Amino acid sequence: MHLVFLGPPGAGKGTQAEKVCARFGIAHISTGDMLRKEMREGTELGKQAKAVVEAGGLVSDDIIIGMVKNRLQEPDCQKGFLLDGFPRTIAQADALGSLTDIDMAVNIDVPEDVLVERISGRRMCPDCGAGYHVSLYDKDTCEKCGAKLYIRDDDKPETVRNRIAAYQQKTQPLIQYYSEKGLLQTVCGSLPMEQVQANILALLEKLQ
Ligand code: AP5
Repeated sequence: MHLVFLGPPGAGKGTQAEKVCARFGIAHISTGDMLRKEMREGTELGKQAKAVVEAGGLVSDDIIIGMVKNRLQEPDCQKGFLLDGFPRTIAQADALGSLTDIDMAVNIDVPEDVLVERISGRRMCPDCGAGYHVSLYDKDTCEKCGAKLYIRDDDKPETVRNRIAAYQQKTQPLIQYYSEKGLLQTVCGSLPMEQVQANILALLEKLQ
């Protein structure tokens, strides 16, 4: 299974990707998680990406494509993978197409007012990457590994506005891109998490 999740910031890509990857035993490749790890560890790549991520912009295609290319060569990807947050530009999508085939691009569709509410209530685990929303989980430690939850630096309201603008300008065209290739499926991401999950799984079962 070679999957792509498309959708604006806060649509629920990470939430759904975690469940889908557990269900099918495929690798979860989140370029956002990879960049946050590089930034936490203070690597050269992390230092280059930090200012851009914290301003809500997009990290350069060269850096991201190189990162994904290496990641796809790791052994766990042989069973399949789900790309969450990549591609985000036409150049990234073209590069991906030259690296591997894609079975389905799932677009998680959520209106802007819902995105802002979701992102403002998000809490993240720094160790295992689990995500929570304060309306559904009110503890300040991760239920999976016990680490103290934190608020992402790019979840501030002004940064969120920039991220949504970057999505509309650079990433939204990928909906048409994958639609023209006959690979696009869209699900309503405003429904409760379990319902969104059931709808995505129903689409993916057809690939089995
Ligand atoms: P990234 O980490 O990919 O962020 P994003 O795409 O903006 O997506 P988010 O992680 O904000 O949201 P999500 O859709 O995963 O939603 P989630 O499941 O957490 O990227 C961060 C930055 O890195 C980018 O801005 C960019 O700078 C850089 N970057 C990354 N990839 C790049 C690339 N390819 N090229 C260039 N730059 C790149 O859910 C959000 C909240 O809602 C959570 O609290 C969750 O609990 C809740 N929630 C989820 N689903 C539901 C539901 N159905 N009902 C109610 N609440 C829900």
